[in-house]
Amino acid sequence: MTAYPNMTAEERAAEYARLRQAFDALKAKELKLNMARGKPSKAQLDMSSDIFQLMQAPEDYVSDGIDVRTYGELAGLPAAKRLFAEILGCRPEQVFVGGNASLQLMYDTISRAYTHGLLHSERPWCKEEKVKWLCPVPGYDRHFKITESFGFELVAIPMTDNGPDMDAVEQAIQDSAVKGMWNVPKYSNPDGIIYSDETVRRIAAMKPAAPDFLLMWDNAYCLHEFEGEFVPFLDIISECEKHGNADMPIVFFSTNKITLPGAGVSCFACSEANMAYFQKLLSVQTIGFDKVNQQRHVLYLKNKAHTLELMRQRAAIMGPKFRTVADTLEREVGALGIASWRSPKGGYFVSLNAMPGTAKRTLELCKEAGVTMTGAGATFPYGKDPQDSNIRIAPSLPPVEELEQAMNVFCVCLKLAALEKLGV
Ligand SMILES: Cc1ncc(COP(=O)(O)O)c(C=O)c1O
Repeated sequence: MTAYPNMTAEERAAEYARLRQAFDALKAKELKLNMARGKPSKAQLDMSSDIFQLMQAPEDYVSDGIDVRTYGELAGLPAAKRLFAEILGCRPEQVFVGGNASLQLMYDTISRAYTHGLLHSERPWCKEEKVKWLCPVPGYDRHFKITESFGFELVAIPMTDNGPDMDAVEQAIQDSAVKGMWNVPKYSNPDGIIYSDETVRRIAAMKPAAPDFLLMWDNAYCLHEFEGEFVPFLDIISECEKHGNADMPIVFFSTNKITLPGAGVSCFACSEANMAYFQKLLSVQTIGFDKVNQQRHVLYLKNKAHTLELMRQRAAIMGPKFRTVADTLEREVGALGIASWRSPKGGYFVSLNAMPGTAKRTLELCKEAGVTMTGAGATFPYGKDPQDSNIRIAPSLPPVEELEQAMNVFCVCLKLAALEKLGV
């Protein structure tokens, strides 16, 4: 088929009429499909249900001589610290094991910087005249919302195939009001980009003007290949250490996309100096997080190799879904010159760039036809995509048959919106 921009007005009108009919037929089906958020499917949750069978015998409640059922161990069970240190490639003493959500640990970190300041802060951030924050785009809406909620000025940094545009980052950090940066270094949300080792090393070597510059290093998808072999990644803490920046990064991780979202275990990892500083503040906030769940996860995940084996089982569910997305896009819009997208081998999303000025309209049509997607603009600071182009597709929740339907609807809507933009 001819690419839409190359069609004559008559050809476009005919194509539009044909698609409008298809759209009305789809609408009549009264579908209720959801590709909005990165939630694992029921089949994937069922895979993790064995976790509830693991703590039956009295000895299952004891870990390294610690009774996991009672108060104590603010920074988490030593066994959980060892497990996450192995996964993240850092030292157990650099790990703090938290509750059921890494997002809460991230929020608390920013909140603490705001109220108390960080180890190298001259004053708490609430006393700063202005705080600016770097946001690689497109990015994760919940990250952006946290920093927006504290009144920081969000600065968009374009993503490249190798991670954030480092020339733009290095320029921006010369401003001492720039206090930090969001990062999802492996299978970024939503692009699925892996930061190259060169990018990671360049980040680790940065010399920001702010003495308390904070690298929020959210490695949520570090084990989440659904195709191909596990891709190793650098430990940002030791990379930063090499450049005298040991206290700059805080790494976040959780098992929520491995075991049970909302019932998993989260952690953060940082330098020992940061750990001592944070623990002092955390000891006021809590006596400790849920060690019973930590123990359940230690028994279930065992170690990195076994966790990767579990991820391979989950990949058998996730892989076909991502292939469905890629195949449908290629078949339906590949030749039309109206969209581009990446085909990541891991993570939870496919990021599509529609013809500028058509993302909102596409999603409006999807909604009309019963398909819920992440809101247009969500992947940008303040929810505003200046190009109105980026759309995040989250294929993990629906079963493949539903996903096929949802993707067909999506492609019809994408085409209608493009034709409307081109003029019909
Ligand atoms: C990049 C990223 N970080 C964190 C989260 C949420 O993590 P948690 O469930 O541990 O709060 C998500 C969920 O989609 C995510 O995409």
